[in-house]
Order: sequence, then structure tokens, then C-alpha cells
Amino acid sequence: MSAPILVTGATGRLGQLIVARLVGKNQHVRVFTRRPGHARALFGASVEVASGDFADPVSVRAAVRGIQRLLLLSPLSGTLSIDQIGVAEAAVAAGASRIVKISGADWTIDPPGVSMSGDAHAAVEWRLRGLPIEHVSLRPNAWMQVALPKLIHQAETGQMLSAGYGGAGIAFIDMRDIADVAAHQLLAHEVIGKPAILTGPAIVDLRQIAGILARLLHRPVAVADAAVPAITAADASFEQRAVAQFKGLIAAGRAAYATEAVSEILGRAPRSVEQFLTEHLTAACFAEPRTGARN
Ligand SMILES: NC(=O)c1ccc[n+]([C@@H]2O[C@H](COP(=O)([O-])OP(=O)(O)OC[C@H]3O[C@@H](n4cnc5c(N)ncnc54)[C@H](OP(=O)(O)O)[C@@H]3O)[C@@H](O)[C@H]2O)c1
Repeated sequence: MSAPILVTGATGRLGQLIVARLVGKNQHVRVFTRRPGHARALFGASVEVASGDFADPVSVRAAVRGIQRLLLLSPLSGTLSIDQIGVAEAAVAAGASRIVKISGADWTIDPPGVSMSGDAHAAVEWRLRGLPIEHVSLRPNAWMQVALPKLIHQAETGQMLSAGYGGAGIAFIDMRDIADVAAHQLLAHEVIGKPAILTGPAIVDLRQIAGILARLLHRPVAVADAAVPAITAADASFEQRAVAQFKGLIAAGRAAYATEAVSEILGRAPRSVEQFLTEHLTAACFAEPRTGARN
């Protein structure tokens, strides 16, 4: 049997899609998880399960043993850089030959100092550049599956659309395209030589989303006046503070640029917001969960 590809964050929203693509291509996949029973329920016998925790170096060393490639993904948290650097260094020590990292959105990383989460991802990217291993960092823009279900729900229940970042435009990306790119870069002959800034095909603002939803629902969909951004409580978690920073940056127009990276890597255009909304509002969508998170 070929050496496995280790996927961290495999049971999460994006990780599941990446595992499905690798298994679909008959790859030997090992998933790293704190919940082996849950992983078994999700993936059946199609993967090897390595039980462990980023905070437990013994479990990390066991998980990387004998692997060929690593898909490096971990949740938004105050330990993101420590966790990911720990797995990357262990993978190099174990003789792995390639790392594909799911990084932060480009506008959280560059310029530095504007996003706690972007700075944490930047620290991991910096460490990867110093390690003797082929690697690529994928920097996806805001995910459709995270942002759009709330807007669909608002429209379906007759509320005005309100997104918490004003009406700013975003070149949203479909998680399925991120997963396609990640699987491609894990399996390609070689990785692209620089961080890949992954976006959807176009910048779409809240009024355009309202227009698409109105057309699909056959009734008017209004947009609420931009709300004043909520002040983050002093005792807010890392994730809450990071999300508040994202909203401020998006409101300032920082997520409003589209790249050709998905087309250049996959040889086809990325999925559009219109496609995503159409799928989710037609009968066909029920083949996939509404959050899009588990397909
Ligand atoms: N949402 C966006 O718009 C966006 C945009 C750009 C980048 N990102 C990046 O995407 C990442 C989040 O991806 P996601 O939303 O797919 O993640 P998620 O759904 O929150 O899943 C988290 C995963 O991490 C695993 N995990 C958590 N703590 C762990 C620990 N201590 N040890 C081992 N495994 C652990 C979980 O596995 P178990 O629970 O099974 O252990 C789960 O598989 C973040 O790095 C974020 O910066 C997101």
C-alpha cells in the first residue's frame, strides 16, 4: 500500500471535502482527530484514523509516521500557529515530502498586523519557508458556505439582508473549489511556487446578492441599512475577536478582489455566488446539506 496522506482538521467543514476528494481518487488517507468514533462514522473504512490532539506531541508524532504528504488545516484559535508548526515540523522529521497548508484569506495576512488570525497563519507560512520540504499555502477568500446560508435564511423568512460588514463586496469562494485545489496540489507532480490567493470569479455585494435571491424566490428582497459594527467584549474569545476584525476589514473593502488562481490551477472557472444560491434554493440542493459543510 502507498504511504498515506495525513489530513488534519479532516472532520471539519473543509477537511471533510478534501478527504472525500482524496478517497475518490483512491488515495491512502489518514485523518487526525480527537474524535476517532466520529471520524469512523463520517468516513467508514475508507480512511485510516489517527487519534490525537495538536496539544499532544506524542499523538502528533504517531500520526505523521510514514506519511508521504500532509494537508495542514486547523481551526481558528489562539494556538493555531503553535499547533500547525508542531505538525509541520513533525512531518518533516518523519520524512514527508510535501505540505499543503490551508491558510488565512490574503487580506488578513498582508499587510501584517491587521488580523490576529492572519498573523497566526503568516507565522506558519514563514516557518514552512524555513523547512526543507516542498510546500504551498492556499489563501482562500471568505467561504460561501459560511457566509451565505444566513443570508438565504433571512431572505426566505422575509427579513432584510444584514451581514454585519455593511454592504461591501466580497469575491466569495465556494469551499468545494478550495477542496478541489487542495486535492490537486496534494497530488500534482509539483506545487505552485508561491501562496495561492483563491477567490470566486467575481466581487459580489449585498445588493447583488439580494437581487439574485429576489429573482430565485420570485419576491422582493431588501437590504438593511449597514449596522454599526458591534464592539467586541473585553473577555471575548480569540475567535470572536478574529471574526470582528474580519468584519471590519471586509467593510473596508479588503475582500473585494478576485484572482485567476482557481482557473489557473484547475483549468476551469470557480463556482459563482449565483450558482451557489441557485443550488441551495432548488430541489437539487437537498442532495447537499444546506450549510454545504458536509458534502
Ligand atoms: N471560513 C472562512 O471564510 C475561512 C477563510 C479563510 C481561511 N479559513 C481557515 O479555515 C480554517 C478552519 O477550517 P474549518 O472551518 O473547516 O474548520 P472547523 O470546521 O472548525 O474544523 C476544525 C477541525 O480541526 C480539528 N481540531 C480542532 N481542535 C483540534 C485539536 N486540538 N487537535 C486535533 N484536531 C483538532 C477538528 O477535529 P476533531 O474535532 O474531530 O478533533 C476539526 O476537524 C481556519 O484555519 C481558518 O483560518 C477560513
